[in-house]
Amino acid sequence: MSNFRPEDEAKRRRTFAIISHPDAGKTTLTEKFLLYAGAVVEAGSVKAKGQNRSATSDWMELEQKRGISITSAVMQFEYKDCVINLLDTPGHRDFSEDTYRVLAAVDAVVMVLDSAKGIEPQTLKLFEVCRARKLPVLTFLNKFDRPGLDPLELLDEIETKINLRPTPITWPVGDAGDFRGVIDRRRRVFTRFTRVARGARIAPEEEMSFEQAAAEEGVLWQRALDGVGLLDAVGADLDMPSFLAGESTPLFVGSALTDFGVRALLDAVVELVPAPPARPDVNGLPRPIDEPCSAFVFKVQANMDRSHRDRIAFVRICSGRFDRGMNLTVARTGKPFATKYASTVFGAERSTVEEAYPGDVVGLVNANGLQLGDTLYEDVPVTFPGIPRFAPELFTNARPKDTSRVKQFRRGIEVLEEEGVVQVLRDPDMGDAALVLAAVGQLQFEVFAHRLESEFNAPVELTGSPYQAIRGTDEESADRLRQIGGIRILQRADGSMVALFENIYRLQRLLADEPKLTLKSLSVE
Ligand code: G4P
Repeated sequence: MSNFRPEDEAKRRRTFAIISHPDAGKTTLTEKFLLYAGAVVEAGSVKAKGQNRSATSDWMELEQKRGISITSAVMQFEYKDCVINLLDTPGHRDFSEDTYRVLAAVDAVVMVLDSAKGIEPQTLKLFEVCRARKLPVLTFLNKFDRPGLDPLELLDEIETKINLRPTPITWPVGDAGDFRGVIDRRRRVFTRFTRVARGARIAPEEEMSFEQAAAEEGVLWQRALDGVGLLDAVGADLDMPSFLAGESTPLFVGSALTDFGVRALLDAVVELVPAPPARPDVNGLPRPIDEPCSAFVFKVQANMDRSHRDRIAFVRICSGRFDRGMNLTVARTGKPFATKYASTVFGAERSTVEEAYPGDVVGLVNANGLQLGDTLYEDVPVTFPGIPRFAPELFTNARPKDTSRVKQFRRGIEVLEEEGVVQVLRDPDMGDAALVLAAVGQLQFEVFAHRLESEFNAPVELTGSPYQAIRGTDEESADRLRQIGGIRILQRADGSMVALFENIYRLQRLLADEPKLTLKSLSVE
């Protein structure tokens, strides 16, 4: 056991996630971070593509079948004397509530935008969760090596579309097809890059003064300098308080594929992402970092290893030092939890973790007594707020295919609901015979059906549903809503009532016509 102090170790931690729309370059950027940190020797090791992919990730049959990675990976690597915890937010086809939940476990995010596309729908969804949590956001405008929008136009889009004030730290020099490098506005230096084939290794770079750049880069330099002059004039400079409050965003430009500007971004992660703060408990009282160990569960994953039928709870350490083998208490039940089996997950590989500090993520194996949002503590009790729930956007009716297996069906629903695989909505008069499932991503339904069949031998029939929107409501409003066609009143697991609408326009009309009705939007709760 080492003698590192939790408060010193916490100061070295930077725990963040990358949010982006599919294809903006999240994977490429992640690989480049690892490359710069020396954690891998060649890009391409994190996520094998195509054929190779099933070989690197065989946790679940479904993953193999679809060639996707459902299980969020956590990558830990050292850079500049800091320990970086990079949490993966699964994208496109594997988008699910887990993607959102990851954001409850990070201290900041890097938002990657494709500079030809600006803010795309999935980025927007993820950003809204960041905003609700007031997470600090760094922005990376990627793919500057290709034709894209004018960088000033992109700044404008960020400001107007998501009301986040960009404060560029770096600025591009060159055109699409002739991207030369980036200006560091704060240090007043130009970094010129040389492109290497496919960018598997780090591209050579050269730092120079503005004078030298002016002499060597000619007209492209002058144009870039005009942009910088404009930014200086409007005072678009790094502003720590508003960055930490999630109101302004330090912005970086570059190309993950060719490495341009990636180092400046990684350096900024170390410099600007806040070290893990003391986490407030349910009463708003912060748990000091140097108190005994505490952690909360932000993701539960069952059956990552088919041969063991195990269940892993991913916890974020909030205070103290975690030592493998220590006994913790589950705040919800008061029961002890032995942490004999603790692992880190790097891509598809698991390795045993011996100790961890605030900001780190640990996978607790055999986590049968743990639920999403649970707090674990050592000695001094604490309960952290639960993981927020998110407004579902997709719905489907569900009923058991085999009525002789209702018991197994019920048990399966209970387990999968508890794990947060989908949200289960019930009609109190119908029980589990006719359920409505709700989710933020289609994949959640597929995982649900697959697991119900393979683990509980209780096949389910998903028949789709006509519903387009959901609102929170109450008993009184429900009486009125029941009289209107195309609306269904159901209950969530916690007993709260929701109304499902077949027609979004009817909902809008109702909101306008009967403002007294309780119809709460369920964004982040
Ligand atoms: P994602 O994880 O956000 O979905 O994106 P990913 O990194 O997989 O990148 C999506 C595509 O964009 C990949 O091309 C990748 O090579 C390319 N890309 C990423 N960063 C840059 C960049 O800075 N400049 C350019 N020009 N392209 C970039 P692909 O053709 O889909 O895959 P691959 O065959 O290149 O691996």
